[in-house]
Amino acid sequence: MTECKVAVVGTGYVGLTTGACLAEFGHDVVCLDIDSNKIDRLSSGEIPIYEDGLQHLVSRNTEEGRLRFTTNSAALDDREFAYLCVPTPRRNDGSVDLSFLESAVDSLRPHLRPGAVVINKSTVPVRCTRFVEDRLRRPDVSVVSNPEFLREGSAVADFLKPDRVVIGSDDREAASRVASLYLETRAPIMITDAASAETIKYVANAFLATKLSFANSVAALCEAVGAEASEVLLGIGYDGRIGHQFLRPGPGWGGSCFPKDTRALVHIADEAGYDFALLRSVIETNETQFARVVDRIGQLAPGGLEGASITVLGLTFKAGTDDLRESPALEIVDRLIAAGATVTGYDPTVIDAVAPSWDVAGDPYSACEGSDVVAVLTEWDEFKDLDLQKVADAMRGDVIFDARSVVDRARATRCGLRYAGIGTR
Ligand SMILES: NC(=O)c1ccc[n+]([C@@H]2O[C@H](COP(=O)([O-])OP(=O)(O)OC[C@H]3O[C@@H](n4cnc5c(N)ncnc54)[C@H](O)[C@@H]3O)[C@@H](O)[C@H]2O)c1
Repeated sequence: MTECKVAVVGTGYVGLTTGACLAEFGHDVVCLDIDSNKIDRLSSGEIPIYEDGLQHLVSRNTEEGRLRFTTNSAALDDREFAYLCVPTPRRNDGSVDLSFLESAVDSLRPHLRPGAVVINKSTVPVRCTRFVEDRLRRPDVSVVSNPEFLREGSAVADFLKPDRVVIGSDDREAASRVASLYLETRAPIMITDAASAETIKYVANAFLATKLSFANSVAALCEAVGAEASEVLLGIGYDGRIGHQFLRPGPGWGGSCFPKDTRALVHIADEAGYDFALLRSVIETNETQFARVVDRIGQLAPGGLEGASITVLGLTFKAGTDDLRESPALEIVDRLIAAGATVTGYDPTVIDAVAPSWDVAGDPYSACEGSDVVAVLTEWDEFKDLDLQKVADAMRGDVIFDARSVVDRARATRCGLRYAGIGTR
């Protein structure tokens, strides 16, 4: 493999994983960020995020001289490729805030060498590759779309062995050069036009969110008709056209991508004159799910939510990450507090208080002290192995509400707990 000189602009969940994995493939990588504190921590060997396998990869590649961190844009001067991995948050109307991308592009302009390729990994509205080209004002530089599909919690494994690599550009030579960066992955590489690549990213997330909202709707149906959602979803999943993945009911979907990307796609469609009613309904179903979970906890608390003491186990938006952005658990905590409950949370990756209105405990058992209802809202493995007798002994009440189907129901019952879940009798 030819070793390439790569820059990664934006060293967050996507950028740090991208930089570390490309270095692991043998490329010479420099990661840039405007956050000097983050760069200082990374340069001293500290990983600012929790992501399985990332520490090891960063340490090894830093020690072997293939990976370094800086705030100085001059590091771009000799780079053949520059990845953009900066945030693209949502605005209130669902549209995408491109200000981080704009300033990143501005910082690239004076430094890129002729013939360099800018690779956009940030999730951006359709035709943004053209927008980046126009803003860059460097006709001697190509801009290529290369959306990222990694999942937090398995980001390293997903990057090293992706299901596919999508590259969008009308410049076939630039696209082939980008493809060569991924040869080590042995994944199918799809080269398409930029607008299609950008659309693939949004549509992939929209489909996954649709599956989750569908599973939650099926769970609600099962509760109404007296069927077991886990059995029903297992039963349909055996059909090869449906599959088992992403068909588990839960407290609602969240995280830094699905909420913003689904709303962005509705907005993009609207602006183009198409009413994406199905996707609007998927988003609404998710909002309803948060409300359903809060109502259910209220029904399970002996005197309702007013004055109830609720323990929330799991605060991150999914297991395997420390990411709290748009976490369903936090949305539910806010609603519980608004309804008059006192909340204590616990999460393996959250040490400090998240908000002044509720406490975060240092271990799951002290979080359950005096609790009326324990609600499991993130599917951490640790919660599968809880000492349920210790949980029962610590509680004032006796209800465990398992929104992620991770607790062993029979064991909970043996320990004197009343088990409740989503889509189950
Ligand atoms: N997190 C995910 O799972 C995921 C998956 C696929 C795609 N994406 C997309 O990737 C992009 C980045 O997401 P993330 O979760 O890594 O974000 P993040 O917030 O974790 O990291 C972004 C980083 O960019 C830095 N930054 C901002 N402006 C900069 C600039 N001008 N120059 C240099 N650095 C700058 C920030 O300081 C931060 O460290 C988003 O568009 C997101 O939608 C995210």
